[in-house]
Amino acid sequence: MPNSFLSKLDSARNVFTFRDFILLPGRSEVEPGEIALSSKLTRNIRVRAPIVSSPMDTVTEWRLALEMAKLGGAGAVHRNMPVDRQVEQVKKVKASKVHAASVDDKGRPLVGASVSPLDKERCIRLDRVADFLVADVAHFHTTKVMNAAKKVLPELSADFVAGNVGTGRAAADILDELPRVEGFRAGIGSGSICITSEVTRVGAPTLYAVAEVAGALRERKSDLPVVADGGIRGPGDAALAFAAGASTVMLGSMLAGTEEAPSAVVLKGGVRYKTHRGMASAAARKVRFAIDRYSVPAKGLDEGVEALVPYVGKAEGVVVTMQNGLRAAFGYAGAASVPDMWTRASFGLVSPAGAAELGAHSLEVKK
Ligand code: XMP
Repeated sequence: MPNSFLSKLDSARNVFTFRDFILLPGRSEVEPGEIALSSKLTRNIRVRAPIVSSPMDTVTEWRLALEMAKLGGAGAVHRNMPVDRQVEQVKKVKASKVHAASVDDKGRPLVGASVSPLDKERCIRLDRVADFLVADVAHFHTTKVMNAAKKVLPELSADFVAGNVGTGRAAADILDELPRVEGFRAGIGSGSICITSEVTRVGAPTLYAVAEVAGALRERKSDLPVVADGGIRGPGDAALAFAAGASTVMLGSMLAGTEEAPSAVVLKGGVRYKTHRGMASAAARKVRFAIDRYSVPAKGLDEGVEALVPYVGKAEGVVVTMQNGLRAAFGYAGAASVPDMWTRASFGLVSPAGAAELGAHSLEVKK
């Protein structure tokens, strides 16, 4: 008899991460300036910049959400606050009289809100004011969360992004069991402040999760967009995510150090920083409003850490750098748009020994 446990080990999947790949060059037919970055955030919402700020309490409140809309991306206001306050934050974005590149059909800035399907009141209240709702649950693919979503969705009208998910199976079950969803948020365990995989040894790294989910959707003839969420450190990681099937990318740590992020600047050794923390860090869980994001009891388990990230000035700098870097990456990969990345970009696997060759090496870097 074959040893079934051994064969479990032998048949393990390759769970690749951003660091394992590069994109191979491909023939390009357009100049970087002609590359279109516009993409679908949800079934009914298109953004000019395929970048979404994460609903974390050190990242997206009204200020960053508004700035993201101005810049052509979008932000989802976090839910680690009383419902009334979250509603006020969303309203503040909607009422802002600024010129935004991402707008609703009345020309007002586009804004999302994060919710948990387990918190029906929050879902309904935010549905009335936000353009889209983002599920903010560490593991959406649980019977409890899915049943709650099944119940609450018929009472909502805003586009609903389900997540987080890490497998094609999760995407398929969501399509089969829920009355509707308008997008998916993929990635479990890759976040910069995330220690879920370290603590539990479970995870679906973002690149892998995106490929799993986007592939399962294609198999089912669904063109719902996938948000790649967690671990993106720059345009290169984002480009990889697009090549793996993502339609937009969600940024936490890259935006936590911006002027528009909620936390105050702290000085340490003469250098300016801002705080970034996991929504399952002890500090974030103390606030308590988002503790049902995780299935473990509030006092159970730290699945995130609290850290300092360098202060980087205006969010505009981050978004523009991402857009320029993405245009360059798309150009090298021979893609003129996000859908082009899905079909034209191909991956190269980098060996651990070869990884060093891809950065600056064999010299003393001056700065
Ligand atoms: P980055 O790398 O952009 O990742 O900072 C942001 C994403 O990380 C997820 N997130 C967490 N994951 N424990 C986790 O396992 C946490 O405490 C936590 N907080 C946030 C989330 O998907 C976010 O968008």
